[in-house]
Order: sequence, then structure tokens, then C-alpha cells
Amino acid sequence: MASKGTTRRRLLARAPFAAAATALAASYGTLLATFARFLYPAADRKVEWMYLARVASLPAGSSLVYKTPAGETVNVARRGASGAAADFVALSSVCPHLGCQVHWESQNSRFFCPCHNGAFAPDGTATEGPPAEAGQSLPTYPLKVEDGLLYIEVPLEGLPLGDARRADAGTDGESRCA
Ligand code: FES
Repeated sequence: MASKGTTRRRLLARAPFAAAATALAASYGTLLATFARFLYPAADRKVEWMYLARVASLPAGSSLVYKTPAGETVNVARRGASGAAADFVALSSVCPHLGCQVHWESQNSRFFCPCHNGAFAPDGTATEGPPAEAGQSLPTYPLKVEDGLLYIEVPLEGLPLGDARRADAGTDGESRCA
């Protein structure tokens, strides 16, 4: 039978391992939650329809950059001329590979991510680089047209890691033609 001193020494010897295991479990939990919210950005976030622009002010082939209240940058482009929401596409500017900012290359008719040469078709489908290899297209946002006005459905709060981006975001809800 172990003495009280021996038992205490054993407990003290195991304490660092228990603390490390607890910290590791908490870290993995946080990491998994963050990863899940990156994969499903709209999931369990409060969303709202926001006014974007008059449909008549965006001719086919034009685009605008919209900054959501949560600080996310969205590229909105008009491809058709019917006047319906299907004319438009709204794509996240965040590369689904490792989160760099993509930009539109009009000369190549594609979105391009300079971090690892990722490329996306105008509808957001990944065509080159790591995003294409992994089948990671640009996330899209729902759009609707009512009475000639274009609206976008966006989350009102940022991702857990989006605080730095929010600080850099500038004016909330601002849109401008590109
Ligand atoms: Fe965009 Fe890697 S972060 S291709």
C-alpha cells in the first residue's frame, strides 16, 4: 500500500500531463470551431439583406466592390442583361485556400490570388493552383432584385479571426463601382 507522500508525489508528477492534455483538447476544439466557420461562413451567423445598387446603374459587364458590415469584401459583377438577380454574381474576395485576397484581372477575365497563383472563373469556380486542385471555389452570397434595386444577403458579424480584417475595413456597408 502506498503512503500518503508517495500518492501525493504521483499526483504531482501527473499534473503537468493532465494540464497539457486539457490545453491540447481546448486548442483542438478552438481550431476545429474556427475551421468549421471558415468552411461554412454563413452558418450560425446572423444575416441580413442589404441594399447594393440600382440595377440600372450596373450595365452588363460592370462590377462593384462591396464591404459588408462585418468587414468582408465582396466582388459583385453583372453578367447578364435581363434585370433579374441571375444576372449578377457576388463572390467573396477571400481565397478559400489560405485566406489571401483575390482580385479581378480583366485582361484574363478571372479572379487571381497572388499567394500561390490560384485562379477562379468569373462565377467563382477554381480553375488553377491549389484551390483548383482542392476543388475550393470562391464562396458566393445570395442576391435578389426588388423594384429595380439589387440586394445582397450578408452576415452582420465577422468570423472569429476577422477582427484584424474588420479593423482595416473602413466604412461599413460602403459600395463603389470598380
Ligand atoms: Fe490563394 Fe493559396 S491563398 S492560392
